[in-house]
Amino acid sequence: MKPQVRTVSSEAIAAAAALLRNGQLVGMPTETVYGLAADATNADAVARVFAAKGRPSFNPLIAHVPDLAAAELHADVPPLARRLAERFWPGPLTLVLRRRAESPIALLACAGLETIALRAPDHPAAQALLAAIKRPLAAPSANPSGRLSPTTASAVVEGLGDSVALVLDAGPCVIGVESTVLAIDGDRAILLRPGGLPRDALEAVAGTLARPDASAAPTSPGMLASHYAPRATLRLDAEAPEPGEAYLGFGARDGDLNLSPTGDLVEAAARLFESLRALDRTAARIAVAPIPETGLGEAINDRLRRAAAPRS
Ligand code: TXA
Ligand code: MG
Repeated sequence: MKPQVRTVSSEAIAAAAALLRNGQLVGMPTETVYGLAADATNADAVARVFAAKGRPSFNPLIAHVPDLAAAELHADVPPLARRLAERFWPGPLTLVLRRRAESPIALLACAGLETIALRAPDHPAAQALLAAIKRPLAAPSANPSGRLSPTTASAVVEGLGDSVALVLDAGPCVIGVESTVLAIDGDRAILLRPGGLPRDALEAVAGTLARPDASAAPTSPGMLASHYAPRATLRLDAEAPEPGEAYLGFGARDGDLNLSPTGDLVEAAARLFESLRALDRTAARIAVAPIPETGLGEAINDRLRRAAAPRS
């Protein structure tokens, strides 16, 4: 089924908020590009975002919030980040900050990292949606992985088709390139992705931007992935646990936890990071049942292989 496309109105916003609350995905206009929005606190909905985009691995997503006060519920905001947010939010700036333990945002949205990317969008429809749902919205650009970001509602429909329930149409995006992504590490600002907010404007507030380097900040999905590994060792494709191992099951292979008793890869993706964390607290060795390499299974296995890789 093709998604509904509705011109922004208060009724359309209410309909979109209801769908989001129900775990469905909505095409959301922002000033940069259209986002594929999901309730960031709902791990299943976040997993559907990865499935819809066909992401080869779980890149962390940007959580959209109305303003700085809302961001502070999810992350520690050091003085430099505060100055940047006060100057540039709402706007095309994403800040990567230390995630707060109390944040209800699904770990999958942050790809299991200790950091979280937050942005307050400068678009009346996005702000209206955030006000209506009263929850943070995880939203990557609304394109299939590896394709161009959409700047119109019809491009969203063309790219993502029936995986999105409703697209809010607010016409073409004003900025048209994604937000600038800055990691804040103490008093250093590290440019992770150039974007809609130019360097000059940022440097006027933050001083010279640092280049990403492996020690300071994750830059690519590969580097990002290596940031998350449980303390426990992992054994993959395990048909059954050996003595002393906690077993993370899948489908009919039941264990201490089961990623999805019905073998549903979307559900498994939604539970992956929370399950690894839970087993990590109880065991020094974790064995994981075989996960098929289809659909989200590719991303799940990618993540598991990285977590199982030898540690430096
Ligand atoms: O303009 C935008 O930013 C759009 C609109 C919809 O807001 N969104 C967007 O999201 O471009 P996405 O998922 O396509 O890009 C998110 C970027 C990626 O480069 C990702 O690696 C980075 O943000 N990112 C997210 N969380 C991160 C984290 N914890 N650490 C480092 N980078 C992170
Ligand atoms: Mg993108």
